[in-house]
Amino acid sequence: MDMIMAFVILPVVVCTPWHVEYQPKHVCTVRGSTIVLLCTYKYPVDRKVEKVMWGHGRKQSFDGPFIYENDNKTYKPTKFEYLGNREGNCSLKIHRVEPADAGEYAFRFETNKTDGLWTGQNGPQVTVSDMIVSMMPREHGVIKEGETVKLTCVNNCTSEVVWFKNTGPLQKWSSTLLLSNISIQDSGNYSCGPKDHNKPLSDIIQISVEYEPKNTSISVRPTPEVTRGTNVTLTCSSNANPTVDIFLWFKIDGDSHREIGSQAELHFKDADTDQSGKYFCVGNKHGRRNSTILTLKVKDIDVGMPAIKFIAVFAVFSVTLMITWCLIVYWKKNAAPKTSTAENFMAE
Ligand SMILES: *[C@@H]1O[C@H](CO)[C@@H](O)[C@H](O)[C@H]1NC(C)=O
Ligand SMILES: *[C@@H]1O[C@H](CO)[C@@H](O)[C@H](O)[C@H]1NC(C)=O
Ligand SMILES: *[C@@H]1O[C@H](CO)[C@@H](O)[C@H](O)[C@H]1NC(C)=O
Ligand SMILES: *[C@@H]1O[C@H](CO)[C@@H](O)[C@H](O)[C@H]1NC(C)=O
Ligand SMILES: *[C@@H]1O[C@H](CO)[C@@H](O)[C@H](O)[C@H]1NC(C)=O
Ligand SMILES: *[C@@H]1O[C@H](CO)[C@@H](O)[C@H](O)[C@H]1NC(C)=O
Ligand SMILES: *[C@@H]1O[C@H](CO)[C@@H](O)[C@H](O)[C@H]1NC(C)=O
Ligand SMILES: *[C@@H]1O[C@H](CO)[C@@H](O)[C@H](O)[C@H]1NC(C)=O
Ligand SMILES: *[C@@H]1O[C@H](CO)[C@@H](O)[C@H](O)[C@H]1NC(C)=O
Repeated sequence: MDMIMAFVILPVVVCTPWHVEYQPKHVCTVRGSTIVLLCTYKYPVDRKVEKVMWGHGRKQSFDGPFIYENDNKTYKPTKFEYLGNREGNCSLKIHRVEPADAGEYAFRFETNKTDGLWTGQNGPQVTVSDMIVSMMPREHGVIKEGETVKLTCVNNCTSEVVWFKNTGPLQKWSSTLLLSNISIQDSGNYSCGPKDHNKPLSDIIQISVEYEPKNTSISVRPTPEVTRGTNVTLTCSSNANPTVDIFLWFKIDGDSHREIGSQAELHFKDADTDQSGKYFCVGNKHGRRNSTILTLKVKDIDVGMPAIKFIAVFAVFSVTLMITWCLIVYWKKNAAPKTSTAENFMAE
């Protein structure tokens, strides 16, 4: 039986040297990916291949237009890249596959004899699927710390997907990604792609986790200890998402505290001693979180003066004293005649 079959088939193969073979016959791929349609062909040995072409979307004989055509003179590189040659390999690479690229493909070649043309029938069928990523329980909106969200990646080609966070692959191959007790570190852009491509091909789902103000702190310019008359600025800063834009300032008075401002910065122009005290601030978008307490000290006396300034003031003071002394002595001398000078003055 097998022998009979072999005798029937063998002559057909031998007598038909014209042949095109596609592998595989069906290609399911995701939008944006790159695929290769593997292909081989045969022709009589006394011929030379002069023209190779690939067609798309036509069932029967090809008269163009072709998506790829190379008669050795014209070659325009496009999204269709011929990986084959003129000696039996006709593989075609398709870059950045779009839905419009779905359908049947076929290879055609022409040799150096006018009747030596051949088109390989029943070419590969390409199916193009979207890669759709979605999020539960909400598609959009605010996600607060501690919540749980589920991301799902669907496509019609493969169940083996790889997840990406900010273009870096995550070690998760299933079509769902569960983010439970979500934290700030989970914020980012999520996407997925077929595992064998290892490239994100879906849209992006942006997750931005909102959190209460944290690490609220006060900074002070120029220093927490200043002399009277200095301009002092206190700045309240806080980490939060969304960023805090409402601040409250308090000054502690004994056991109570009173509100003294509602901007990020608190300015004391020409600070006075009664502005000394303990301050704290609050960023209040999502609940309140007190800052640490800042102790501001506005000093009255000028102890922090540099030595040179002190000497200069001392010198001026001394000179003034001496001039006054001389004037008094001079005046005494003129006003009280006869008597001898210094002793009399001292006695008075
Ligand atoms: C075609 O090319 C082959 C190989 O170069 C050559 O042997 C043959 O004579 C050519 N045939 C014609 C019709 O030009
Ligand atoms: C076709 O290209 C090959 C290699 O690029 C070259 O050897 C050959 O001469 C070319 N033939 C024609 C007809 O231009
Ligand atoms: C044809 O060329 C492609 C791309 O270079 C290659 O992957 C494939 O193995 C080749 N096929 C054969 C039968 O040589
Ligand atoms: C999967 O195929 C079905 C039927 O062809 C189609 O309606 C659906 O949109 C496809 N899904 C994707 C993700 O491409
Ligand atoms: C959620 O995470 C926080 C810290 O990130 C942790 O303190 C808390 O115990 C976690 N809650 C649950 C239910 O796992
Ligand atoms: C996420 O995507 C948005 C919009 O495409 C972009 O503005 C943002 O910078 C991305 N974030 C990261 C961390 O890549
Ligand atoms: C708060 O500060 C700590 C230590 O400086 C830091 O590790 C943490 O990331 C900060 N938190 C936020 C929300 O910025
Ligand atoms: C304090 O600020 C006021 C304006 O706000 C400015 O006129 C003054 O010169 C500043 N004083 C000092 C000591 O910088
Ligand atoms: C912030 O500080 C005020 C005054 O000391 C206090 O009454 C309040 O309870 C504090 N709030 C928090 C959240 O610690």
